[in-house]
Amino acid sequence: MVSSQPKYELIQEVGRGTYGVVYEAAVRRTGARVAVKKIRCHSPENVELALREFWALSSIQSQHPNVIHLEECVLQRDTLAQSMSHGSTSSLYRELVETSLKGEIAFNPRLAYYLWFVMDFCDGGDMNAYLLSRKPSRRTNTSFMLQLSSALAFLHRNQIIHRDLKPDNILISQGPAAAAAAGRGPEPTLKVADFGLSRVCSASGLSPEDPASVNKCFLSTACGTDFYMAPEVWEGHYTAKADIFALGVIIWAMVERITFVDAETQKELLGSYVLQGSEMVPLGEALLENPRLELLIPARRKKSMSAAMRQLIRDALSANPQERPDAVELELRLVRIACRELDWDT
Ligand SMILES: Nc1ncnc2c1ncn2[C@@H]1O[C@H](COP(=O)(O)OP(=O)(O)O)[C@@H](O)[C@H]1O
Ligand SMILES: [Mg+2]
Repeated sequence: MVSSQPKYELIQEVGRGTYGVVYEAAVRRTGARVAVKKIRCHSPENVELALREFWALSSIQSQHPNVIHLEECVLQRDTLAQSMSHGSTSSLYRELVETSLKGEIAFNPRLAYYLWFVMDFCDGGDMNAYLLSRKPSRRTNTSFMLQLSSALAFLHRNQIIHRDLKPDNILISQGPAAAAAAGRGPEPTLKVADFGLSRVCSASGLSPEDPASVNKCFLSTACGTDFYMAPEVWEGHYTAKADIFALGVIIWAMVERITFVDAETQKELLGSYVLQGSEMVPLGEALLENPRLELLIPARRKKSMSAAMRQLIRDALSANPQERPDAVELELRLVRIACRELDWDT
C-alpha cells in the first residue's frame, strides 16, 4: 500500500525515549485514538531497535489484554509511506534489514527513513508514575501482579523474551469507565510495552509449540536496565528466566514501595536493591558477586506480605535461573495467592 494522504493526525507528544518520540494521534477516518511511536532510522542501532520491536509485536498472532497491540507499522522514506509486513519483499524493508545485519547504513544516508508504530493508546501514563502518585493499595498490587504475570506467560508462550521489563515500560489504560468510577471502580489495565530490546526465539531451532523452549533459548547480549537485570544477564548468558527475575524485582518493589532515584534522570523509580554501606547495588549485580546472598524479604514490615508471597518473590529472585519458576508457574502461584488475599479482604 502506498499512500500520499496522511492516515493519522498527530495530536500531542506524550513520551520521549532514547530512540523515539511517541505521540497521541487520531485515525482521520474514524477519530479513534492511537499512539504513534516514530523512530528515525539514521543509525544501525536505531534500525536494529525498531526492527526488534516490529518483529516481536508482529510475530504475535493473537492479542492479549496486557500486551500492547501493534495495529500497523508504517515505513516512510521522505514522502513515500508504505505499510510494512513481516518478511516483506519491498526494497525499503530489505535495506533496513541489511542495515541491522551489517551494522552499517545500507541506504542513501541523505534520505530520511522513519518507522511509525501505530498501537493502542494508553491514557494513564506508566506504572511507575501511576503507583507513586497514589497511596499503596493491596487490591491494586494484586491486580497488577496478575496482569503482569499473565502478560509474561503469554509472551513466553509466543517465544518472546522482553529483556527490558521495568515499571517505565509498563503502561496504563484507564478507559472512560474507570475514570468515571473515580478510582473506586475496576483497577486499570496494564499493557507491557517497549519491545525495542526483545528477542523472538522461535527461529532458534527450538520447538515453537513447546512453551518451555523459550527457557532453553540462550542469549548473550547483556542488555536491560541495571536495577532489573538478572545476575546471568550481567555475565551475558541467559534465557527467558531473566524476565522472571525482572518481574520479581518489580513485584517486590511494588508490594513494599521500595524506590531509588535514577542517577541520570533524577526520577524516583520503583525497584528493589541491596544496600552495601550507603551504596544501592542492583540485586542482580549483588547476586552475581555472591550467589549465596540472603535477600531480606520483606525488607520492612513483616506483615506486608503473606508467607506464600515472600516465597514466590524469593524464588523469582533466585541467583540460579533454573531455580526460578517459569512464567506459567509464576502466574499459577500468583492466582492462588490472589484468591487467598481476596478471601482476607472480604
Ligand atoms: N502506546 C502508548 N500510549 C501512550 N504512551 C506511550 C505509548 N507507548 C509509549 N508511550 C510513552 O512514550 C514513552 C517512551 O516509549 P517507549 O516505547 O518506552 O520507548 P523507548 O524505547 O524510547 O523507551 C513511554 O514511557 C510512555 O510514556
Ligand atoms: Mg522505554
